[in-house]
This record gives sequence, C-alpha cells and structure tokens, in this order.
Amino acid sequence: YLACPLNAWPVSGADRTSQEIWESFSQCFTPAVKEVVEFAKGIPGFQELSQQDQVMLLKSGTFQVLMVRFCTLFNADERSVTFLNGQTYSLSTLRALGMGSLLDAMFDFSEKLSSLGLQPDEMALFMAVVLVSADRSDITDMRAVEQLQEGLISALRSLITRRRPDDTTLFPKLLLLLPDLRTLNNLHADKLLAFRIDP
Ligand code: HEM
Repeated sequence: YLACPLNAWPVSGADRTSQEIWESFSQCFTPAVKEVVEFAKGIPGFQELSQQDQVMLLKSGTFQVLMVRFCTLFNADERSVTFLNGQTYSLSTLRALGMGSLLDAMFDFSEKLSSLGLQPDEMALFMAVVLVSADRSDITDMRAVEQLQEGLISALRSLITRRRPDDTTLFPKLLLLLPDLRTLNNLHADKLLAFRIDP
C-alpha cells in the first residue's frame, strides 16, 4: 500500500508491482499539482519572475500549498482522515498502514489552521503567501521574490485587519504557520524519499 491521503487506493491488491502502485498514485496527485501551477500563474507578479525562480518556488512550495488546501481532509476531533477517494479512515487504521508522527503533526496543523476560521478569499491569499515564502536556497533574483512576498503579505494583512478590526492576533498567528508548513514539508519529503527508495 501507499499511505498518503492523496492516494485514492491506499490499499491495493498484493499482486500489483510497486511501479503500478506509483503510477496509479501519480494519477491522483498530478491533477492537484497542476492546479497549484495554475494557481501560481494567477498570482499577480508571479509570472514576471524568471522561469527558473518560478520552478524553484513551485518545487519547494507545492506540497505546502496542497497541505493548506487539503487540510480539511484531517478531522482532528474524530482523529480520522478522509482520503481523496472520499473514504474516511480512523487513526487506528492509519497507524496499521504505517502512518506515524507526521500524521500527528498534520492533525495539529489542520486544527490550528481551521481554528482561525479563514474565509475562502483569505485562504487563497494565504496560499499565495505560502508559495512565495517557500525555501529560497536556489533563487536567482532574491530581490524580486522578496518584493512579491512583501506585497502579498501586506495584502493579506489589510484584508484580514479590515474584516476583523478588533482581532490583532489572527494575522501574526497565520504567519506563524509558515514555519510549521516548512517542517511538515521536510518531514513529508523524507517519507516520499523513503518510499521511492524502498517501496
Ligand atoms: C505519505 C507522496 C502530498 C499527507 C506519503 C508517502 C508518499 C507521499 C510517497 C509515503 C507513503 C508510504 O510510505 O506508504 C506524496 C506526493 C504528494 C503528496 C507525491 C504530492 C505532490 C501530500 C499532501 C498531504 C500528504 C498534500 C497532506 C494534505 C501525507 C501523509 C502521509 C504521506 C499524512 C503519511 C505520513 C506518515 O507516515 O506518518 N506521501 N504526498 N501528502 N503523505 Fe503525501
């Protein structure tokens, strides 16, 4: 089996080769990844970055954007996860599939994010901030990415403070989720790598 919630068939027949399992899984995550690319193209200013920098941000940011977008798959109260096929699995089933501390960290994250009660447009702007705040190690035009990031962060701040003038804590709470996302990204990348080496 391949235990990622983006997999529509986490448990498959024993007769399937690891290549077949990976191919059917890639049909599940490819549309989601393409949507992130389309989403990125719609961020004002993103397409003005060099092609190479766009690719770098997408490489390190796609998972983080998807994590935010699919955070509702994690039900922290019921301790269950709904996979992309619509089927819900309990924590004990997921543990039996080999999921561990990363799953717990994702439950924590989704609990934090959903407690903030963002509206859809705030969520979208937050995802744009997440994407341009992704790891910068291989960016060529740092200044351009920083400018884009600053513009998006201040747009997010004004949207949120205009709507909730009395709540000064929401915006900083949101920014504090960025390092959490980065940690989840790294932990998840380890899982992905481990799977590719030893499926
Ligand atoms: C585990 C791939 C996106 C949540 C995994 C594994 C792979 C993988 C290969 C290891 C499976 C195993 O060892 O059986 C991918 C790919 C993604 C993607 C290629 C998209 C490009 C996501 C997203 C989320 C997510 C967006 C969350 C919303 C998880 C969880 C696990 C996992 C919870 C299990 C962690 C654990 O073992 O504790 N993923 N994933 N993945 N993935 Fe993903």
